[in-house]
Amino acid sequence: MKHTAFPAAALLALCAGAPAIAQTEVKIAYALATESHYGAGALAWQEAVETATDGRFAFTHFPSSALGGEREVVEGIQIGTVEAALVSSGTLANFVPQAGVFDIPFLFRDLGHARAVLDGPIGQDMLARFDDVGLKALAWGEQGFRHITNNRGPIATPEDISGLRIRTMENPIHLRAFSTLGAAPTPMAWPEVIGALQQGTIDGQENPLSVIVSVGLSDVQEHLTLSGHVYSPAILLVSPQLWNGLSSEDQAAFVAGAEAGVAAMRGFVDDIESGGVETLRAQGMEVGELSAEQRAAFRDALVDAYAAYGTEFGAELIEAIIATE
Ligand code: PAF
Repeated sequence: MKHTAFPAAALLALCAGAPAIAQTEVKIAYALATESHYGAGALAWQEAVETATDGRFAFTHFPSSALGGEREVVEGIQIGTVEAALVSSGTLANFVPQAGVFDIPFLFRDLGHARAVLDGPIGQDMLARFDDVGLKALAWGEQGFRHITNNRGPIATPEDISGLRIRTMENPIHLRAFSTLGAAPTPMAWPEVIGALQQGTIDGQENPLSVIVSVGLSDVQEHLTLSGHVYSPAILLVSPQLWNGLSSEDQAAFVAGAEAGVAAMRGFVDDIESGGVETLRAQGMEVGELSAEQRAAFRDALVDAYAAYGTEFGAELIEAIIATE
C-alpha cells in the first residue's frame, strides 16, 4: 500500500493563496503496515520534519516491504534511490559487523537496559560507524524482545527446538545461536515468511510482540513461547545523498524528527508489551512463557556461541554493555 500524506504547511500555504513552496520528496520505506510500530515511527518522523521545515520536505510512505526486503531497502539508501528507512537489525551486521553485538541472545536485561545502551555512548558510537559504509544512521529505534512462534508444539527447553525449522533474519549472530541450540534455522527475507509458514516449508519464526500482533501471525502460527531470547533494535537511516544536501538546520530537523520517531516506536512497543499477549490468546494462540530457570537453561546451551561472540566483538565491549545501568 502506498500512502502519501499531504504536508500540513503546504496545505496551509495553498489555502492562504500563497505561492507553492519547493518541496523535496523523502521516500520512506519500512517492512510493516502503517498501523505498526514502524508506521508510528515514520509518521512521527514525518510530522516533526514537516513542522520544523515549513513543509519543504514531503514524505511518501512505502510500508509493508513495498520497496523489497530490508537488505534491498538498505542498499537503496546507500545508492540514494530511497531517502529514509526504518529497518530491523536483520541485515545490519552485513553492513557494519560490530553492530551485530546488539543481536547477542540474552544480552539485555530489559527494555530500559537496551534503551540506555543504545542512547548512550556505545549506541551513538555504533551509529557513527554507518558513515563508513555509505549510510547515515540517525537513531536507534526498537521492536521489543523477540519470541518464538511455531506450529510444532510448546517450547520449554532447548531440546524442544531440536530440528525445528525456524526462519531467522539474515543475521549471522541469530543464525549461530539457533544452530548452536540444535534447531534447523533458515535465514529468509521477511516478505517470504508468511508464504513459507502457510506452505509449511518452515515450522516457525521469531519476532517481537509488536510484529506478531501487527502482522496477525496468529492466523498462521499456533504456539507462542515468550522466550525474550534477544532484543530487537531498529535503526532510522537516511541516504547520504539526502543528508549531504541538507543545511545544518535541516539536518538538525531530521535528527530531531528521528528522535520523535524513536519515542513513538518505543511508546507503541510499551503498549503492545502490556496488552499484546491477551490479544494473541484471544485470537487462539497457545501461549507459554519461559521461567527464569528455563531461560538460564537456554543460556547454558549457548555457551559455544557465546565464546564465538566474545572473539568476534571483544569481551570489553560486551562487558561494557552488560555494565550499563
Ligand atoms: O523478522 C524480521 O525480518 C523483522 O523483525 C521485520 C518483521 C522485517 C521487522 O523489521
